[in-house]
Amino acid sequence: MAPIDPHSFTDSSHPLTTHVSLSLYLDFNSFIIHGSALLTLSSAFSGELSLDTRSISIDTVLDPLTLASLPYRVSATPDPIRGTQVVVVLSGQSSVLIVYSTSPSASALQWLSPLQTFSKSHHYVYTQCQAIHARSIFPCQDTPAARIRYDVVMNIPNSLSAVMSARHVRRRLPVPEEAKHLEAGSLGSSLWSGEDRVVEEFAMEQPIPPYLFAFAVGELGFREVGPRTRVYTESAAVEVLDAAALEFAGTEDMIKQGEMLFGDYEWERFDLLVLPPSFPYGGMENPRMVFLTPTVIKGDSSGAQVVAHELAHSWTGNLITNINNEHFWLNEGFTTYAERRIVEVVQGADIATLNMGIGWRGLTDEMERFKDNLECTKLWNNQEGVDPDDVYSQVPYEKGFQFVLRIERQIGRTAFDEFLKKYIATFKFKSIDTNTFLEFLKANIPGIEKEINLQLWTEGVGIPEDAYEPVSTIYTKIISLAKEFKEGRMPSEDEVAKWNGQEWELYLENLPKSCEPSQVMALDKRYRLAESKDYEVKVSFLQLAIASKCREYHGEVEKALKAVGRMKYLRPLFTALAQTGGTEEKQLAKQVFAEARETYHPIAQGVVESILSKYI
Ligand code: BES
Ligand code: ZN
Repeated sequence: MAPIDPHSFTDSSHPLTTHVSLSLYLDFNSFIIHGSALLTLSSAFSGELSLDTRSISIDTVLDPLTLASLPYRVSATPDPIRGTQVVVVLSGQSSVLIVYSTSPSASALQWLSPLQTFSKSHHYVYTQCQAIHARSIFPCQDTPAARIRYDVVMNIPNSLSAVMSARHVRRRLPVPEEAKHLEAGSLGSSLWSGEDRVVEEFAMEQPIPPYLFAFAVGELGFREVGPRTRVYTESAAVEVLDAAALEFAGTEDMIKQGEMLFGDYEWERFDLLVLPPSFPYGGMENPRMVFLTPTVIKGDSSGAQVVAHELAHSWTGNLITNINNEHFWLNEGFTTYAERRIVEVVQGADIATLNMGIGWRGLTDEMERFKDNLECTKLWNNQEGVDPDDVYSQVPYEKGFQFVLRIERQIGRTAFDEFLKKYIATFKFKSIDTNTFLEFLKANIPGIEKEINLQLWTEGVGIPEDAYEPVSTIYTKIISLAKEFKEGRMPSEDEVAKWNGQEWELYLENLPKSCEPSQVMALDKRYRLAESKDYEVKVSFLQLAIASKCREYHGEVEKALKAVGRMKYLRPLFTALAQTGGTEEKQLAKQVFAEARETYHPIAQGVVESILSKYI
C-alpha cells in the first residue's frame, strides 16, 4: 500500500480506472451538478478502493450490476491539497457507481452569471481541471498515472449548448428513465426531463489523464477555420469570433507542421474555444478542443504562438504524459521546445529566437523568485505537501526547454528529430517519469551521459552552465537598449518602429525591477504602454510602474485587474502591489481583490489569496 502520486489518494496496489460514464445535470440556479459516475476498473478488486474528491457530497455508492449499496466512507477532514479521500469497499466488483453532487465552490468550475458574459443574457460554465481539480467534478483516481476513456450524458437548459474535449455524439431530448439514479440521490423528481432541458452526449475514445477532462456550456457559436478546426466563442461575441477566426486562420498549417515533426495527429479534431476574460490561463491543451483566453487575440502573431503551444501538447503532454506533477517538465519543457519548432517554420527563426529570449529572461527571473526555495528550480522536484498551483512557474517550461535544446545541440537536429519521433511513438498514450525518459535517451543515443550531465540537468538546482542564452541581432539590440535605459536613454522612434508586442515585452522585462519614476512616466508618455491593448505589454509596464512607485497608474492597474482573470497577469500585478509596495499599494491590492474576487475562477482566487496572505 503506497501512494503513487503526492497529489492523489490513489494506491499502488489498486487497479486503475480505465473508463468513466458520467450523467450530469447542470443546475445554473444553485451552481451545482447532480451527477452519477460509473467507474470501470482494469480488474476486479476486493478491499478498500481509494478515490479523490474535493467538495463533493456523495448520495450513494452502488454495485452497478446488482444495484446493491456498497459500503463507503468519507474522510472526516479534507487534506488541504489533495481534498477528501473516499474509500469504497468492493468485494470482487470491477466497477462502481457513485451518485453525488458537486459544490458551488468546486475548484474546477467557474459559473458565470449572465451579467458576467458577453451576451449579458445567458449563463455560462466552464472547467479547468489541470493540475488536480477534476476531483471536484466527479470522484476519480485523479492522477495522470491513470488514463481513462469516458462518455458523458449532460443535461443542460435548452437555450445553451455544450462543448467538450471529446467527440460530440448528439443533442437530444432527455428521457425520464435515465434519471433514476440521480433522482434517488439529490436531484428533484422530473427535473431531468423538464420542458426547458436538453441532453448533449459526448464520447472520448482516446484514453486521457483526468486533468484533460473539460467542458464548457453557454450560448455558443462557431466558425470553420480549417478542415479539422472550428473556433467557438459566445455567439453574441460576434467581433471576438471574427477576430479569432482571422487570428487562427493558419492553424491547419501548424497542425501539418506538427505532424511532419512529431508524427500523426491522433485526436481527429483540433477545435479552439475562446473563453470569457476570466479564464485563468493563456491556453489549456484540452484534447480535441483547446481552451484559450480572449487576451491572445490581438491581431499579431502572438496568438498563433499560444495555439502552437497548445497544439504541441497534442504530442508532448497529451500523448506522452507526466506520471505525476513532479515530472511536469516532461509535459511543458518538451511542449515549449515543440512550440518553438512550429513557430520557427510558420513565423520564422527571428520570432522563435525572440520567444526563446523572453523565455530566458523569465527563467532567470524565476531563479531570483525561488532563491529561498531551490527545490522549485529543479526539473524533477519533490512535491510532497506542495500545491501545484502555488509553485506554478516558468522553470518546467524554460529550463525544460533548455534541457531538450541542450540534447538537440549535442546530437544535431537531424538525429534529434528522429529521436523525438521515436520517443513519441514509443510512449504514446502512456504516462512516464523522468527516469523512463533518461533510460530511453541513453539507450537511443549511446554515450550521451558522457557529453551532458543528465543528473545535474534533471535533479540539480539553478541553471546549468551549458544552457544556451539565445543570440540574434534583434535580441541583442533589445537587451542593449534596455541596459541604456538605466543610463537614462530612451529608445528612439526609429529604433522601435518595427516593434510588436513581443519586442516590447522583452525590452520591458529587461529593465531594472524599479526605475526613477520620472523616467518611467516619460517612457509611457512617448509610447503609451499603460494603455496598450496587448496585455503582455500593459502588464509588464504596470508592474514596473508599481515597483517604481508611480502611483498615477493605480487606476489603470485596478482596471486591468478587474478586466481579466488570467493568472499570468494577476500574479505579477498583485505580487508587485503586495510585495514591493507601501501601505497605499497593499491597500489597493486588498480592495481590488475584495471587489474582483467573485469574477475570478476559483483557482485564480486561491492563487491571489496566497500571494496576499504571504505579503500582507
Ligand atoms: N497546460 C498549460 C496550462 C496549465 C499548466 C494549467 C498547469 C494548469 C496547470 C498550458 O499548456 C500552458 O502552458 N499555457 C500557457 C501558454 C503558453 C503559450 C506557455 C499559459 O497559460 O500561459
Ligand atoms: Zn503547456
